[in-house]
Amino acid sequence: MPEGAAKFYDLPLDERRKLIAEWAGLPVEDLAAFTPEGGLTAELADHMIENVIGVYGLPLGIARNFRVNGRDVLVPMVIEEPSVVAGASFMARLALSGGGFFATASAPEMIGQMQILDLPDPAAARLKLYEHREEILEAANAVDSVLVKLGGGAREIDVRLIETSPAGPFLVLHLIYDVRDAMGANAVNTAVERLAPLVESITGGRVHLRILSNLAERRLARSRCTIMLDALAFGEYSAEQVRDGIIEAWAFAASDPYRAATHNKGIMNGVDAVVMATGNDWRAIEAGAHAFAARRGAYTSLSTWGKDAEGNLVGSLEMPMAVGTVGGATRVHPAARAALKLIGAQSAAELAQVIVSVGLAQNLAALRALATEGIQRGHMNLHARQVAIAAGAEANQVEAVARRMVEEKAVRIDRAQEILKEWSK
Ligand code: MEV
Repeated sequence: MPEGAAKFYDLPLDERRKLIAEWAGLPVEDLAAFTPEGGLTAELADHMIENVIGVYGLPLGIARNFRVNGRDVLVPMVIEEPSVVAGASFMARLALSGGGFFATASAPEMIGQMQILDLPDPAAARLKLYEHREEILEAANAVDSVLVKLGGGAREIDVRLIETSPAGPFLVLHLIYDVRDAMGANAVNTAVERLAPLVESITGGRVHLRILSNLAERRLARSRCTIMLDALAFGEYSAEQVRDGIIEAWAFAASDPYRAATHNKGIMNGVDAVVMATGNDWRAIEAGAHAFAARRGAYTSLSTWGKDAEGNLVGSLEMPMAVGTVGGATRVHPAARAALKLIGAQSAAELAQVIVSVGLAQNLAALRALATEGIQRGHMNLHARQVAIAAGAEANQVEAVARRMVEEKAVRIDRAQEILKEWSK
């Protein structure tokens, strides 16, 4: 990271924007998309959804210190929760001690589902679909010649028989579809809708639902990092204490769904923030993550933490990551376009690698805090600022009101109001 980076958070907002543009090699005007004036206008929003009456802003911060597969990345994060951006940046700095994050992504293969009902002989219909595999794949490829030219398209079919259900027996046909750099919902949904008549004629049944599955288990992103033991010590905590505390905290999530839900929520704090910044569908990512976490029957942690032969802390995260760099809001929303430029990912796979690395860093931030001093201490300063704003503090009063409440250990809206009243006299 460039010199002077340590003081980044102390700089005035415009200075930060200038520095980020400089580091990214972009004209500062490109980052105007992150301001209310230069970002999404109501007129543009009006083309995105229905009944638009305005736009809704959220903070966008830059997580620093991320090195993913040897490349330094500035990571834009959109999130309303304090401590997330700082936590990710700090853990990414610790990960630098082990070379940063090492990430991969599998082929961008999505699953389109077709439900086939009213079958006189479901078992035979299942086999007939396999007999017509080539024809089905060809028909699916005929739907989107551009995607096929780019190297994507139909790859495989898979058919399951659901023997008993409230609707009787039925078949589920999975169309495996490589969507390249798109998120893929539109491409997959179009393909399975178009295939319905062919599938009905092969099986003699009735095709009911035709829709993408958000359990994108074939489109996984994986990241790992090593935190050198020495980098872990802080305050009164020895490096071993921090390391072992993190591993014990992970063991809790690995064995208990109540804890796993919160543990994974911490991962999603990082993941969703980048998914949102880049205009991707965070509900799809959430759905995929939690279904994947429960894929073996019991809901569990998406990440793992342990130690290597030298005693360093090692972490990994593997999860579905159906994000795109083309299509949808990624290209329409000016801030999403600017965020993608900042990240500088050349493909959806590279974006997925960055996102899963941020998820892993975020997970580490939460576990490190929980395993040592707890999360409230770090949270309080930023939380106090939000309380001050909620109590009506002006921009130039926020910092002072927050500091006073933290000193008094009374971070409450009524106290903030009292302080403001005192000052106004
Ligand atoms: C809060 O947004 C996220 C945490 O609860 C995550 C965790 O408990 O691991 C701190």
